[in-house]
Amino acid sequence: MQPFIEEFQIEAFQRDLIQWFEREQRDLPWRKDSDPYKIWVSEVMLQQTRVDTVIPYFHQFMEQFPTLESLATADEEKVLKAWEGLGYYSRVRNLHAAVKEVKERYGGKVPDSAEEFSKLKGVGPYTTGAVLSIAYGLPEPAVDGNVMRVLSRIFLVEEDIAKVKTRKIFENIVRMIISHENPSYFNQALMELGALICVPGKPACLLCPVQAHCRAFAEGRQEELPVKTKKAKVKEVSIAAAVVMDKRGRILIHKRDQEGLLANLWEFPNCEVGKEQPQKELTAFLKKEYGACVELNSPFAALEHVFSHLVWNIVVYCGTIMGDIAETDRLKLVSEQEIQQLAFPVSHQRIWKEYKQFKQEGG
Ligand code: ADE
Repeated sequence: MQPFIEEFQIEAFQRDLIQWFEREQRDLPWRKDSDPYKIWVSEVMLQQTRVDTVIPYFHQFMEQFPTLESLATADEEKVLKAWEGLGYYSRVRNLHAAVKEVKERYGGKVPDSAEEFSKLKGVGPYTTGAVLSIAYGLPEPAVDGNVMRVLSRIFLVEEDIAKVKTRKIFENIVRMIISHENPSYFNQALMELGALICVPGKPACLLCPVQAHCRAFAEGRQEELPVKTKKAKVKEVSIAAAVVMDKRGRILIHKRDQEGLLANLWEFPNCEVGKEQPQKELTAFLKKEYGACVELNSPFAALEHVFSHLVWNIVVYCGTIMGDIAETDRLKLVSEQEIQQLAFPVSHQRIWKEYKQFKQEGG
């Protein structure tokens, strides 16, 4: 790659790329102003989530938490609720902790140095580069999977982008070629190129503004790149869940652990089960863990929920709670209205939807 970067026309590349971005960029809500807080929220939402999905969440989040101060002082429950459905909830828990720190330590101003910003909770090299370049115009690389794909083609980099250390190669390339006049547009243009033209599989090279600079195109190898090894097969787990009601019509819900997958979200009580006797195992679990004696009916739904690293196969029972339950901070009997106010993972929202439908149909 070294000889190629020496003959690479850096200025012509920056011009072709940025002019294209000026003409073709999508009209996205976080591009309307350069408030660092808004840019930061958008970049956190955009990690692992598609632009189309993010747009309505972004609008709603900004209505509820229009300033860093308002997010810093918000209730965690409300913040999780606003994120409900976006997934990867540690992103928002970290963001919440980080804006609190910005409020306390930096008087509410998002730090404008990589040194300080990157120390905040949940802020990695990508977010640092994206926020500092877009909001503050600093020439920092913002390398995510899309940018790696684009640059792997332009510079014919054959390193495996699934390996953590490969990102550094691309950061070094960006440091060499980034526009110092307009780092914000330069980085956003690389992201936009990855989203619109230099897509996975078959890129639209004939429409590409930087085709003349692309080594993979010159060699007809654009479809071979990037090199990305496949992850091991995802783990499958069988789960039994219960929507159980007491004699006053209240439903039992549980708040997940403070750490780990879907931390602090509410759920219908559930446990991992074997294939043989899920109903029996769930009944015993409810008694042992929550002191709840329940009578479960036959399952009313079975659903599959796919995470990036895991699949849950959930069988869902409804039933009745016999006797009393001692409520705690993490174990509550709630009304149907209260369920709507609390943050549940998507899989449990689906359980609730199935349950309502089942009841409507006379179950
Ligand atoms: N993906 C990640 N960040 C983005 C941004 N700022 N604009 C469009 N797509 C993105």
